[in-house]
Amino acid sequence: MSREELLNGNAEIVRSKVAAAAKASPNAVIIIFSNPMDAMCHVAMQASGFPRERVIGQGGALDSARYRYFIAAELGVSVNDVHGYVIGGHTDTTMVPVVSQTRVGGVPLTDLLPAEKVQAIVARAMRGGAEIGELYKTGSAYFAPSAATIAMVEAILLDQRRLIPCSVYHQGEYGIRDVFSGTVCQLGEGGIQRTFELPLTDEERAKVVAAAEATKELLKLLN
Ligand code: 2OP
Repeated sequence: MSREELLNGNAEIVRSKVAAAAKASPNAVIIIFSNPMDAMCHVAMQASGFPRERVIGQGGALDSARYRYFIAAELGVSVNDVHGYVIGGHTDTTMVPVVSQTRVGGVPLTDLLPAEKVQAIVARAMRGGAEIGELYKTGSAYFAPSAATIAMVEAILLDQRRLIPCSVYHQGEYGIRDVFSGTVCQLGEGGIQRTFELPLTDEERAKVVAAAEATKELLKLLN
């Protein structure tokens, strides 16, 4: 089952749980990792009435961890020294690994690996969730999503001001408005403190815009 097929089943659950949580904890920061993640962020924002700083989607942190790991494994280096982000949507077709801004020890990824290897890594990162699902046979990933969520929670609770790719309600980033999509966010006390717009190639930018459009289209199917 794709993430998108979970739309209305999960929306019902997210709506009721978030409404109850927001009533009990009106100053909370909500991190969403139910799928389809960007659409569920909309449901959570509506159900809670919280501002964009306090409704955050987790997909980008997870997708970027997978992307960075595949690069590190290919190059035989520590994942800590691979800097790269996956932004856009959290679906197999709409996530955007930003190859043009990926660096390993400061060196552009494209100087270290041939184009076909980079493309294979991008394709594997985009299907990362599906790959794990196929291995499990039933259910979906939970180790990597949990680790990504913990990193986000720690950044907020400890006011670490970490820059983590997250789904955020866009208000002009990449020319996109009024929809959740992924970009790099500064996470600290209070949730999202600031958003960062990566310098993208024209092709990457077009994919990011298309990802936001796809989420808007998906939202039209919400009951
Ligand atoms: C993942 O990417 C299922 O969205 C979840 O692992």
